[in-house]
Amino acid sequence: MRALFAPLLLAAPVATAALPPASGELRGAAAAAGIEIGVAAEPAQLAPGPEAALLASEFTSLTPENAMKWSALAPAPGVWSFAGADALVDFADGNGQRVRGHTLVWGRANGVPGWLGDELAAASDPAERLRALTAELIDTVVGRYAGRVPTWDVVNEPLAVDSGELDPDSPFTQLLGVGYIAEAFARARAADPTATLFLNETLVEAQPAKFAGLLALVDALLADGVPLDGVGLQGHFLQGRADGAVLRAQLEALAARGLFVEITELDMPVLWFFGEPDVLAAQAEAYADVAAACLAVPACRGITVWGLSDADTWLDTLFPLSAFAPNRPLLFDETLAPKPAYGAVRDVLLAPAPPAGMLSFAALATLALIRRAASAPPPR
Ligand code: XIL
Repeated sequence: MRALFAPLLLAAPVATAALPPASGELRGAAAAAGIEIGVAAEPAQLAPGPEAALLASEFTSLTPENAMKWSALAPAPGVWSFAGADALVDFADGNGQRVRGHTLVWGRANGVPGWLGDELAAASDPAERLRALTAELIDTVVGRYAGRVPTWDVVNEPLAVDSGELDPDSPFTQLLGVGYIAEAFARARAADPTATLFLNETLVEAQPAKFAGLLALVDALLADGVPLDGVGLQGHFLQGRADGAVLRAQLEALAARGLFVEITELDMPVLWFFGEPDVLAAQAEAYADVAAACLAVPACRGITVWGLSDADTWLDTLFPLSAFAPNRPLLFDETLAPKPAYGAVRDVLLAPAPPAGMLSFAALATLALIRRAASAPPPR
């Protein structure tokens, strides 16, 4: 399949705003490889123009960068505001794209609404209040998009930034303990039994002890029968360049538990390549390593980059990386021109290194079929 499509895709013109959806080389390459290539987007980027054209033509999957977070959906207790999230889901539907629902339960940054602290402080039983609000959130949001958002990050970043312990600063950990994770997954499964349910974690790629904590958590959840279908590794390489071998081993360890895996929030600041003769070429190699790691693991369903272009990366406002802005961590530059990393990912998707000992076309075609079959939710 890959071999058949490759010449056609290589001959395809570079995507421009004038081209119709689904004509971009990256999107075509991902389809041929049997994986999703996704992008985080904001509702403001969907207005007709060059950004919307690229979002539609180059990606098979969209993740709302902020628009589906509790803080964005609930301006006040019991008040819901779905305009931005609806716009993203409608855009994806119109362009034949998957949506990764991001994210339901996240006790950090803009994961919880500003009013939550007051609400809990005023409650006679803050733990019960948080439990009820979380249940309402999951029922309302997953229920609204049932059948339209096939994959959810149900719990985001449950672990501490720099250890395998539960995040001690999260209100969910503080008030509910580890049980909040199982409750959230059970609630999400009930709200949309067809959705694939992910736990999404950050900064494990360069922290073996944190990754070990993630595996321990996952094993405990599975042993308890929690309806967990997949684990996302965010892939914010904030601590150094991606190491393809480490990433592949982590993906394999999770896949060995019968889970889907995805790289859910990939970006890579050029800081790690300062000193190289060609910074963007070095960055492209690191991107290629990430793509190859995913392709080597049949359970890896996709790679999502955290933003469309270097013009709007969150890293330029994230301390301490903000001090190094522009971080230029994405596939398109600030003029929306494709960077070397774009070509590198496309080329890996078109011509993945064959798995050891499986050199025939038939073997490659079989791998693509396995990956495609694996995109249906597992029978749990
Ligand atoms: C970030 C967004 O990119 C920013 O715009 C926002 O200010 C904060 O959140 N891990 C996640 C994402 O799961 O939701 C975060 O997104 C980045 C880290």
